[in-house]
Amino acid sequence: PDPASSHPQMEEVPLLRGSNCRAKGAAPGFKVAILGAAGGIGQPLALLMKMNPLVSVLHLYDVVNTPGVTADISHMNTGAVVRGFLGQPQLENALTGMDLVVIPAGVPRKPGMTRDDLFNINAGIVRTLCEGIAKCCPKAIVNVISNPVNSTVPIAAEVFKKAGTYDPKRLLGVTTLDVGEVLGLDPREVNVPVVGGHAGVTILPLLSQVNPACSFTSEEVNHLTSRIQNGGTEVVEAKAGAGSATLSMAYAAAKFADACLRGLRGDAGIVECSYVASQVTELPFFASKVRLGRSGVEEILPLGPLNEFERAGLEKAKKELAQSIQKGVTFINK
Ligand code: NAI
Repeated sequence: PDPASSHPQMEEVPLLRGSNCRAKGAAPGFKVAILGAAGGIGQPLALLMKMNPLVSVLHLYDVVNTPGVTADISHMNTGAVVRGFLGQPQLENALTGMDLVVIPAGVPRKPGMTRDDLFNINAGIVRTLCEGIAKCCPKAIVNVISNPVNSTVPIAAEVFKKAGTYDPKRLLGVTTLDVGEVLGLDPREVNVPVVGGHAGVTILPLLSQVNPACSFTSEEVNHLTSRIQNGGTEVVEAKAGAGSATLSMAYAAAKFADACLRGLRGDAGIVECSYVASQVTELPFFASKVRLGRSGVEEILPLGPLNEFERAGLEKAKKELAQSIQKGVTFINK
């Protein structure tokens, strides 16, 4: 039976019948689920994934509003077949058979909050969703967006370890929002490795490695580092209580998911920054450049030469990261 039809509202959406017909001749491609698909990030992310020619099936899961979002997105005349899933009883159907699961579920920040302030609510959400992944699609690549990423990725890892399904190559924290356009250069042309983690001082831009090469005065380095570390917070403040970055984040997440899918397809030379299980430092998780391939993270690239400013930043980042990782691990094993 079509999982979408198990919810009465979903049966009334005429396009779902069209989707069922198209499913028979669906183009080859990947099956992608978005968990938290009705949210501020989830909706534009669903739109962008529906436009991705590598996606043949798109599952939209949330605890509210998925029938409407699914009906809306399914009116886009692109290839992917869309199905909606509402509430915990439909989580397993949403996940079964997925190649890639993207998780933007959870509460966002309000002004004055740190990402860690979200821990109490989002940790439990991520745990439940990852238990479902371990059961229904243990081989899927998982992209974690829900904050605090520095802790939710270790939480996901502990859930998968308990279930006996953990593959560190397949679990990736999405940190790319921080790689912003604050340098005053054409954002399409410039690449800044941002390493460490995804909160405050753990966001460590390596401005000495900007590509194409660029030199900055120490004032510029201070200013740019702080702008990049606070990029997300600037959006939270500008939205003044109405949420955090959703549109730019959905774009960054869609690009990151696309990179994962191109890796799965076997494309060569796909490199992105991501927060993953890592031996780049003594910490069990760290964000750095990774090479993506058929099995997920195929290689973690070294940090490269750091200057004195970056080495000092790295020490600060590691201190906070160690605590955030431990907090996630303890949450699952307490
Ligand atoms: P939002 O509140 O607009 O949407 C979150 C969605 O998650 C809602 O539709 C909600 O119903 C859903 N949800 C809640 N509990 C759920 C559950 N148990 N299962 C499935 N869905 C559930 O929030 P927004 O703005 O979309 O942000 C989502 C998350 O992404 C937040 O934790 C935020 O901090 C994080 N974020 C991460 C960024 C990054 O760079 N990694 C950047 C910006 C936000």
